Formats: sequence, C-alpha cells, structure tokens
Amino acid sequence: MNVYDSGRMAGVLAPLGFAPVDRPDDADMVILNTCHIREKASEKVYSELGRLKKFKARKTQTGTSMVIAVAGCVAQAEGVEILRRQPAVDLIFGPQSYHRLPALLARLAHEGGQVMETDFPAEDKFAALPALTAAKNVTAFLSIQEGCDKFCTFCVVPYTRGAEFSRPVGDVVREARALVHGGVREITLLGQNVNAYRGAPPAGREEEGRWSLARLLGALTQIEGLERLRYTTSHPRDMGEDLIAAHDTLPQLMPSLHLPVQSGSDRILTAMNRQHSAQDYRVLVDAIRTARPDIALSSDFIVGFPGETAQDFDATLKLAAEVGYAQAFSFKYSPRPGTPGAALADQVPETEKNARLAALQELLSAQQHAFNAACTGRILDVLFEKEGRHAGQMVGRSPYLQAVHVTGGPDLAGRVTAVIVESTGANSLKGRLVTQQDWVDVNHSPATIGGAESGLAGLE
Ligand code: 5AD
Ligand code: SF4
Repeated sequence: MNVYDSGRMAGVLAPLGFAPVDRPDDADMVILNTCHIREKASEKVYSELGRLKKFKARKTQTGTSMVIAVAGCVAQAEGVEILRRQPAVDLIFGPQSYHRLPALLARLAHEGGQVMETDFPAEDKFAALPALTAAKNVTAFLSIQEGCDKFCTFCVVPYTRGAEFSRPVGDVVREARALVHGGVREITLLGQNVNAYRGAPPAGREEEGRWSLARLLGALTQIEGLERLRYTTSHPRDMGEDLIAAHDTLPQLMPSLHLPVQSGSDRILTAMNRQHSAQDYRVLVDAIRTARPDIALSSDFIVGFPGETAQDFDATLKLAAEVGYAQAFSFKYSPRPGTPGAALADQVPETEKNARLAALQELLSAQQHAFNAACTGRILDVLFEKEGRHAGQMVGRSPYLQAVHVTGGPDLAGRVTAVIVESTGANSLKGRLVTQQDWVDVNHSPATIGGAESGLAGLE
C-alpha cells in the first residue's frame, strides 16, 4: 500500500513541478513513506533520517535547499518524537493527509519551521487526489479499502490507518479503466482488510446497497484488456461465500490468495483477538480449495506472541504443515506501543522467538521449494512485465505469482504467453515459450494445469 500511496503522492506533486529522481543526494525534497508495523521498520526511519541530514546540509552549504518529509504510519504514530529526535525534518504527515501535500508545502514556505499534519480529515482523500497519470507498468496496485476495525491485539494498523473505509465502486472502476487504458493488464486490489470491502454502489443503483469485494471483482472483469485480477490482504473472517465462489467463476481472478492465519493455536488466536479458531481456518481452506483446487495459498505468521508456549508453537507448525503454503511471511512478535499485546505479561524471550522463527521458516521454505518444484514440466500462462537482469531475458509472473524467466524479446511485455517450466528455484522459475510439440507432449502428461488452456488459443 505504501508503494501505491507513494505513486499517488508523486501524482499530487507533479503539477507543482516535482518529478521523481533515482537518488536522494540532490533532490529538492525527500519523502520517507514509512511503515510502523514492526519495531525494525520504524527504527529504520531514524537511521535513514541521519543519512539524509548530511545531504541536506551539503545542499544548504551550496545555497540550495532540501525539504525532508516523513509520511506514512510512523509519521502518524510518532510525529512529535520524530521532530524532537531529528530537527532536520521539515514536514510530517500521516497516511490520510497526503492529498494535502501542496497546501502543506505552501504552509512550510510561508511559515518556515516544522509543519505537522496527522489528523484524520473528514474529506475523502481519494476524491481530492488528481486523476491517475499514465501507467508505467503492465501490473498495478489499486487501493480500494483502507483502515481496519478488527483490532488484533498485536497490530497498530487500526490506530495508524484508522477505521475501515471503502472507496465507492464507481471510483474504483474508473481508476481501473484508466490503468488499463494506460497499458496495465493486471490489477491487484489493495486494502488492509480488503475482503471487508463494502463499497457504495455506482450512481443510479443506490437501491442495491453496498457492494462486496466479489461483486466488485465481477464488475472489473468486464473491462476489456484487463487480463488478471488479484486482491490482498484478506482476513479469514471476511472470506464470504460469494468471494470463495468467485475463485471458481471468474477466470481473470488469479489462483493465489494471501490469507494470514498468524498462529495455529486457539489459545493464542483468542489472545490475538483474531475472532476465528484454527479449525475455522482449516474449514475455510477446504472450501477455497474446493472452489479452486490449484490455488496457491500464502500467509503471515507471528511467533512468540506473549504467552505462546512450546505447545502453542507446535500447533502453528502443525497447521502450516497441514495447509501447505506456496509462500509465506513469518515474523517475531514485536510489541507495538499502544497495542494491548505490548502490555501483556509473559513476553517470550528473544532467544526463544529466534528458535521458533527459524523452525517455522525452515518448514515454510521447504513448502515453497516443493510448490515451485511441482511446476517443472508444466505449461503456465505468464504475464510478461519487463526485461530480466541478463541480456535477452524477459521476466513475468505465473498465475500463482511466481516470477518466471525466459529467453525472449521485449515485445513479450504486456502479453500473457504460455511457458513450459524447465527448472525451478526458491524464488523463481525458468522456462521457455511453448512450441506446438510441447502441447502434444504435455497433453499426454497428467501434469498439465487447467489454467494454461488460454495459451493454446495463442498458438493456433
Ligand atoms: N509483530 C510482529 N508481526 C506483526 N504483524 C503485524 N503486527 C505485528 C507485530 N506487532 C505482521 C502480521 C501481519 C503482517 C502484515 O505483519 O503477521 O499480518
Ligand atoms: Fe492488523 Fe490485519 Fe488484524 Fe486489522 S485484521 S488489526 S490490519 S492484523
């Protein structure tokens, strides 16, 4: 979401004459768009500010200037502290205020000193932003929902991003059309709790009531040229039946799903206020796999939540082993100021957290390897995005979100093309564009994946 927000900030600043540059050294302004989710992420901000301060001092010596701004959730949560610890910072603004950047810069120019804006303004940020300018890539993020009402006891998001808010259907569809018009072929819908989406219906259809994510996805599949859709991140409690069914009925909806479970222990899930049990999650996974048997599942896990015992952790390992993930993220619990978890007694010692994280990551990494290895010899549809690191190489994504490398020309960019997978690694697959003979060979082999059929049309 910060990548998306940063793009929108660039859009707000473009009319003022700002354009993104690759290095901060000579920039007129540097904006750190920050993340507060774990302590490590927020501590990075202070070390980065120390580095930027030197660039700013150098510019001042040569008679020019540099505005240093801190945006995002660290700014929201620790604005006053940042200004105290780093006087070189000129501007602080939270994730709900970046549409006001031009006004904030005007205030800074006028008043000087340090300017801070961390309110949750009543107006709709998205409505106040300028329309998107031309897309640069064939894939794009599109924020449709922000904030969270779930209040998991470890998480700062409800405090930094605020209450749940869904953008109206009409606005989302308009933005998606603009992206596709600019060359985008795959859109990932974003939200802290994206499947809790409840968007106001399009104009003239108010009697229909708010739309679910499944309904929105259905409408987006009508956009010609939009080949692929994804969404992230989902909460298990909000995986409605219509959304599960959409994985069966909407061919554009890619078979990969990020569905964080955090823990496999009911005791810990309750302490985390996740509002579901490990068994609820298993049942949900079964339902999703019934709708889309080949779906690639991913998850987030937290190890060492306060009070987590060796038995609780074993339950997490067991759940992960049973579900079988294509990919997953795992983190050591990081107490966040102001969250209920941080105040709990029984914090788990760091050494124990390290050992549990290592054990879980070993399992998850083996699962990822196995998932990738099972793709060898299969034909997958790949949406090519850009040239690879080596000459004559192109990189794209499989339906399961794996990076796929082939030898090929830049004309592949933006096209969904069938690739036969020849070798696999931890993080990517290697293959080649299929020939007619490959189809004959593979069709005699049971390893063919259903999703690759559309590639056949391209060959005929
Ligand atoms: N400590 C560790 N991990 C956290 N996450 C969120 N808050 C914390 C925390 N305090 C993880 C969760 C979430 C992901 C985005 O970050 O797993 O799903
Ligand atoms: Fe944080 Fe996600 Fe829980 Fe909301 S649902 S509080 S964003 S972990």
